[in-house]
Amino acid sequence: ERVFTIAIDGPAASGKGTLARKLAAHYGLHHLDTGLTYRAVARALLDAGLPLDNEAAAEQAARGVDLGTLDRETLSAHGVGEAASKIAVMSAVRRTLVEKQRAFAKTPPGAVLDGRDIGTVVCPDADVKLYVTASAAVRAERRWREILGQGGEADYETILADVERRDARDMARADSPLKPAGDAHLLDTSEMDIETAFRAARAIVDKVL
Ligand code: C5P
Repeated sequence: ERVFTIAIDGPAASGKGTLARKLAAHYGLHHLDTGLTYRAVARALLDAGLPLDNEAAAEQAARGVDLGTLDRETLSAHGVGEAASKIAVMSAVRRTLVEKQRAFAKTPPGAVLDGRDIGTVVCPDADVKLYVTASAAVRAERRWREILGQGGEADYETILADVERRDARDMARADSPLKPAGDAHLLDTSEMDIETAFRAARAIVDKVL
């Protein structure tokens, strides 16, 4: 059966998740935040008190990931994203999670998937590929405002350093590094609010519909 796939990639706090959610709702597609699958593996190791470089445990945790029960609340906790980027360098983990992500994408009528390697590895035949970026300063400021808005405490400089370290790790890894697919549309949201970015993304998708 024919499915429609929108692949969205980009660095941490680029706004790709919000954009993916809005596009999925607008076009009536399923949505998968693939970052949550890597976060779930990291969370399992952290909860078990295991080191993040324990390949056997990470692979087993990856096999246990259930896309239907991924809980954004517990997985968005501070530090889990950083831990996720450490387990995300393991090929065995990636292979296992990518298989689940591809199966998800095949469910009619199709899906919006967001992550780091959707256009390059998970769904190389996606109908539309977007690479969403923004300057590190802008992304750090968004994350900072988000945390303050939730009543949390945060230091801007620390967040900026975290964001830059995580990007560097995601771009430098050997297996499925973060980079735009050759046929991806670049969307720099540094100067855009979410509505403007949403409109720009729709214009791109509507052309191939
Ligand atoms: O997007 P999010 O911040 O939730 O992702 C957490 C981490 O999971 C990323 O920093 C990255 O290392 C990893 N990830 C990945 N491939 C994906 C999605 C996330 O390697 N498709």
